[in-house]
Amino acid sequence: MNESSQNIVSARNPLAATVFYIINVLLFPVTLLGYVIWVGKILLAGRSSGVSGTAQGPLSVRWFEHNLGARQDEPANRLMLVLPGISPLGVWLAAGPMLLAHRLTGYVPKAFRYPFEGVVPPQYEASARVAFFDTAVDRYLADIAQFVILGAGFDTRAFRLPKDARVKSFEVDMPKTQATKREMLKKAGIDATGVTFVAADFEKDDWLTRLVDAGFDPGKPAFFLWEGVIMYLDREAVLATLRKIASTVKGSAVAFDYFTTEPLESRALYWRYARATTNAAGEPLKFGIDSAPPLCGRLAELLVSCGLSLAEQRTLGQETEGKRAWGGFAVAIVK
Ligand SMILES: C[S@@+](CC[C@H](N)C(=O)[O-])C[C@H]1O[C@@H](n2cnc3c(N)ncnc32)[C@H](O)[C@@H]1O
Repeated sequence: MNESSQNIVSARNPLAATVFYIINVLLFPVTLLGYVIWVGKILLAGRSSGVSGTAQGPLSVRWFEHNLGARQDEPANRLMLVLPGISPLGVWLAAGPMLLAHRLTGYVPKAFRYPFEGVVPPQYEASARVAFFDTAVDRYLADIAQFVILGAGFDTRAFRLPKDARVKSFEVDMPKTQATKREMLKKAGIDATGVTFVAADFEKDDWLTRLVDAGFDPGKPAFFLWEGVIMYLDREAVLATLRKIASTVKGSAVAFDYFTTEPLESRALYWRYARATTNAAGEPLKFGIDSAPPLCGRLAELLVSCGLSLAEQRTLGQETEGKRAWGGFAVAIVK
């Protein structure tokens, strides 16, 4: 048995799981103290910095996956600990017991398995989507030479492409979040020379014109990655962005995740909490696709109205009588 198949076995082994959870329960006070320091420092750094608070969520998922040996992402590993408002002590205390338990048992908790397995609960959406988007990046960048990450936050995919990649990469984000990322990439010693940064607000600016001004070739197809962003935008900005993507040449594609109207309206405790925390971060949930079933049809209609065709779709949540899906992952193409 080779090392990777041994890892896969221990990742699911019931004895390894039992020891893993016993260690975590015994060391729970350490984890709790770490989270209090970690989250407390982020809240103290507060909204005043103008840097996206929600961007840290997906980065920490990739950091955990890297440190649990599930998905290699050295740039995410380095970026995480230099971000302003992050307490490395808090992060290591919070993560330490889990990482120690993993070292001793080889067990990887379900939340950080790569690819994510089984039904996706809302709290694991960020973990589950990583593999969906990694697969889309690999598939589309095999033929497309322009890669545009919209609302890039602290995504590190552009820095994980092979050094000899013929792909030209761009990142678009709000000015303050992007400026902080550029500073922190330097601090973390990550070479960002292959990436062109374009600051723009989807709700106010013509990001496509700025992209072209920065060297994007509108005559060549592009792969747009729009991960974890559209739920924070108003409807006009979502539609305008999709139309701009549709105005690029045939063969371009966009991968994105979305919420339905359920998370915006549901009275369930989880969604109330999610709305309260994103409101507190100054990034309220604003956009959801009509959840009336079938979701796939609603999404396809919306995309067609913007000039795009649905190519791939994964519905999140159940669509049964009385139940509505809460979100999805999708890829749309320019035909
Ligand atoms: C949850 S983060 C996701 C970041 C990244 N895509 C990832 O998966 O790691 C949301 C990102 O969208 C960006 N964003 C939100 N509203 C925006 C807007 N109006 N214009 C540009 N970017 C925006 C935020 O700055 C943040 O970087």
